[in-house]
Parts: sequence; structure tokens; C-alpha cells
Amino acid sequence: MELPDPDSVSRREFAKAAVALGGVAGLSACLDASDADGGGNADAADGGPLDGVPAGDPGEAPDRQHAWDDALDRDDAGNVVPPTHHVLRYVDVDRGDAPRADARERIEAAFTDLERAFERSAAGLLFTVGYSPAYFDRLPGTLPESVDLPAPRPLTGLEDPSIDEADALVHLAADEPAAVLAADEALFGGATAANGVPVTDASGLFDPVDRRTGFIGAGLPREHRDADGIPDDAPVPEGAKLFMGFANGFAESQATEGRVTIEGGPFAGGTTQQVSTLRTQLDAWWSQESHEQRVAKLFSPTHADEGRVGEYGERLGSDPGVADLPEDAVAYAHEEGVVGHAQKAARAREDGKPRLLRRDFPTTDGDHTGIHFLTLQESIGDFVAVRDAMTGADIADGTAVGSRINNGILQYVFVRSRGNFLVPPRGLRALPDPDPRSEP
Ligand code: HEM
Repeated sequence: MELPDPDSVSRREFAKAAVALGGVAGLSACLDASDADGGGNADAADGGPLDGVPAGDPGEAPDRQHAWDDALDRDDAGNVVPPTHHVLRYVDVDRGDAPRADARERIEAAFTDLERAFERSAAGLLFTVGYSPAYFDRLPGTLPESVDLPAPRPLTGLEDPSIDEADALVHLAADEPAAVLAADEALFGGATAANGVPVTDASGLFDPVDRRTGFIGAGLPREHRDADGIPDDAPVPEGAKLFMGFANGFAESQATEGRVTIEGGPFAGGTTQQVSTLRTQLDAWWSQESHEQRVAKLFSPTHADEGRVGEYGERLGSDPGVADLPEDAVAYAHEEGVVGHAQKAARAREDGKPRLLRRDFPTTDGDHTGIHFLTLQESIGDFVAVRDAMTGADIADGTAVGSRINNGILQYVFVRSRGNFLVPPRGLRALPDPDPRSEP
């Protein structure tokens, strides 16, 4: 992939391209670009300090790796504002000759060094590390019953995804593109330091399998309409965080970090993570649907009739209000022929509360629009239940009636891959055994 000319695109667009490129080249380009604005730092490409990126203190890190919300800002309505830039590193680990205890120590030291190098915030760096069923399967012992981590599989009849079987997934996220890239280089590339702090070399213990990237923030989808999968002139509102033209992640539609935390057993304090890479094909979405139809399909027909959403979701505050609609989703779909995505997904709430903490972000990997749909939940079973509700096989059941129903956004979304991971509590984040209780 080639970087655009920094003089011909906005700084944000250039930063997004640099994160997607990665490596020393991406980091240097990013730093050069910010230098032109007067804020760069030549040393930083070699692991030197990054301008304006605060250092951190590992002693302050919470036990839950996924406890990001307290470290993030809220918008005026109280919704959590996620970090802007994201890298997903899929790696195989510890397959070489290094004795396991040494490997574990080195990996833990590298993660701790990153926590020293970066404040645990969007201005610094947030990260998690998770392990796949394939990783646990090749080790002696079995996961405790308190962990529900089946192998990933296709979840609908409409998909034929590739199955992610890499051992581990490291999710790196920060507002500053150079911070994500410097951390990425220190863990997986040749850099020996990040943000001016030496980082233990564990790179030989990681065998990179895949690297995926994305971004989330108002205005970014509009800037990236030149990707395939969306018309170049699609009227994506400036305030939209999604290529579909709306905001997401409203507080009342998100599970709390407590709800998604595993409560018992040796992995108490951890969570499960599923990541589906979704490709979106939005030409018809933008060229054939009206704003009202888009609202009806993404939220609900009631939202469209009552003008509840506004241009991109600015009227919703912290609650999209999809759980207590007057209509029954199935009956309504059969009568009116359309049912909303969020309305359907909300049917899987438990005791009125959402089960998934969605930390998804749009992407233009492969120069095509999509979403890395990353969620945290207590069990993978929670995810499957919500995905079933979203699919709505009970609504469009393949009968003549079913096939006439506009079933949310399904026709625009294509599942490319699925992966499941266990994100252990911080104390077990370096090469955990399947049942740490049985360790000698
Ligand atoms: C292209 C893909 C997708 C887009 C653009 C999208 C967009 C949205 C939007 C705009 C909302 C309402 C506002 C909010 O986020 O709070 C929403 C809600 C939701 N979506 Fe999606 N979504 C997508 C895929 C999925 C998938 C694959 C799932 C998986 C199961 C899912 C599950 C949910 C859930 C659980 C809610 C909240 C429902 C509740 O309030 O209980 N979404 N989505």
C-alpha cells in the first residue's frame, strides 16, 4: 500500500493511512507529517519520546485488562469516547525452543514496559491481549468451566467466514497514531524502545499472522468515502462515526465492564472477546435508500416515523431507545415489511440490560469499507445469542413472507472472518495455561 501525498489530504486522513501501513515506514511518515505542523520528533521513529504522549505507571494498571472506560473521556451525553486508531495483531506465540517460563517472563516484561512507556488512556495507549481456543487446545489441561470459549464457527446460513486460529490477539488503541505504531513496532517489529522507554525484546516469541487496522471518530467515514464499498459522493454526515452514516456505542445500549467480566474460577476478572471482520457494501444503502429508510433499517421504523434519530444520531443522547418500542419486532416485520437492526439485537438483552460491550471500529483494510466488529462479553454464548437475535431467522424465515422483509442491515454486511479469544485478567496475560490452578 502507498501513502497519500501529505500535502493533498487532511492530517487525519494521512494518519489513518500511516496506521494501516504500519512498521517503521508508517511511524516515520506519521512523525514527518506532524513535524511539518511543527510538533514532530526525529528520535521518535527509533523509540524516542513522542510529542505530547504521556508516560505511564504499571503500578496503576487495574486487574481487568478490558477496564478501559474509566481511562476514556465521555461526550456531552455521557457516552464513552473510544480511542481513534486501532491495530489488531494476530500472532502465534511460544512455538520455538525458549523454555516456557522464560518466554512468559519476557512477554510479561514487554507488556509492563509498554505500560511504563504510555499512560493508560487515549492520549497514551490502551491494549489487551487475548488467547484463542487453538492456543489452549495445544497445551496440556483444559479450560475451567467458568470460561466459555468454543472454537469460532459460522453463525448464520449466509456466511462462509475464514476462521481465525492465531494463538493470540493483541488489540492496540490510541488517539495518537504514532503511539499505536510505536507500541506495535516495539512488540512485533525491530524497535527496542517506545516513547523514550526501553521495551524488553519479545519479538522473537511472536510470529505475526495478520495485522488489521481501523479508526473511529466523527468525520472519519466521510473523509474515507474514496474506499470501495461506498459511493465517493455518499452524503455521510460529518458527525457520523460509521460508514452507514450514524453514530453508535450509546451508553444504554452497551453492557457495562462488570457485566462482561468472568466472575468465578482462575480467570475471574477476565472476559471473552470475539472479533468478526465485516465487509460492508453500501452503494445501494446510499443510492437507493432514503434517510428514513436508513433509520428504519438501522434503528426501527418507529424511530423513522417519529424522527427520533436526527441527522446521524444527535437526538438520541445516551439511549437509542430500542428496547421498549411499542411494536413487537416479529409481528411488525410481518405487517410492515421492515425491521431495524438495533431493535432486533435488543431482543437478546438479559433482564433489560445489553450483554455485549461493543468496541467495534470501521476499517478500509484492503481499500474496502468494513467494520472490525470487536465485542467483549462474559461468555461466547452471549455473543451467539445476540448474533442470532440480530440475524432474526425467526423474522425472515426463508418463506415467501420472510424473503420480502427488509431485515435490518443484513443485506449490506458480509462476514469475512470470525475469531474468539479469552482476555485473561492482567496477572495471567502472558502465556496462560488452560487451568492456572493446576500449575505446579
Ligand atoms: C456493519 C455492521 C454494524 C453496524 C453499522 C451496526 C450499527 C449499530 C447501530 C448504529 C446501533 C444503535 C446504536 C448503538 O450502537 O448503541 C447498533 C446497536 C446494536 N448492535 Fe449493531 N451494527 C453492526 C453490526 C452488529 C453485529 C454484527 C452485532 C452482533 C451481534 C450487533 C449488535 C448490536 C447490539 C447488541 C446493539 C444494541 C442493542 C441494544 O440496545 O440492546 N451489531 N448497531
